[in-house]
Amino acid sequence: MIHAVLRGLRSDDAEDVLAAFQSNDDMSRQGRVANLDEAQDYVRRLISQDSVHVPYAIDDGGRLVGLVCVSVDREDLTGWFWYWIHADYRGSGLVKRGATAVANWALNDGGLERLELGHRVNNPASGAVARAAGFIKEGTERQKFLVDGNRIDVDTYGRLRTDPAPQGPVLPMESCLH
Ligand SMILES: CC(C)(COP(=O)(O)OP(=O)(O)OC[C@H]1O[C@@H](n2cnc3c(N)ncnc32)[C@H](O)[C@@H]1OP(=O)(O)O)[C@@H](O)C(=O)NCCC(=O)NCCS
Repeated sequence: MIHAVLRGLRSDDAEDVLAAFQSNDDMSRQGRVANLDEAQDYVRRLISQDSVHVPYAIDDGGRLVGLVCVSVDREDLTGWFWYWIHADYRGSGLVKRGATAVANWALNDGGLERLELGHRVNNPASGAVARAAGFIKEGTERQKFLVDGNRIDVDTYGRLRTDPAPQGPVLPMESCLH
């Protein structure tokens, strides 16, 4: 570690996507990827021609270790922003740096005017990533999700094109997808 970069998601990332989904139970809320076929479907959906998603792999030494994605609403010029990383790579700051780079890109070269995301309040690392990437907390959706029998609040965040850009470090982007 670590000469990580951001690059476009590729179909040959499916094995590494599966490894990430198997690395921690909390990945189950990112979708269902329990075997290689499902990992290939997951990647195919994200990179298909008509996909609304712009998925960037966090790549360390040629292997995908995480993902930062913007799911674009072209009508309103907004993007739903989301991210995950293999459990072995957590706490390394890679997601913060990757999310900052992708958010900067989306609001500048990507032509979007607003990015938004939400995270469960019992997932504080996700909120730290959002704030590092320049998002501002906008509210709390009370008791939004039912997780293991408990209703969980979700904090909502937004970043506008006109908001101040964050000053923290960014991962280099190897290629732009759009
Ligand atoms: C959320 C997730 C992407 C964070 O990944 P990560 O590797 O911890 O992210 P980073 O290392 O880049 O940054 C994490 C930040 O959260 C902070 N953090 C971690 N655990 C924390 C906790 N329990 N309380 C408060 N802050 C915490 C870290 O200190 C760091 O911030 P800092 O550098 O300012 O101190 C990762 O845990 C994950 O993939 N989870 C499963 C998928 C998921 O929940 N995605 C988000 C959906 S909204």
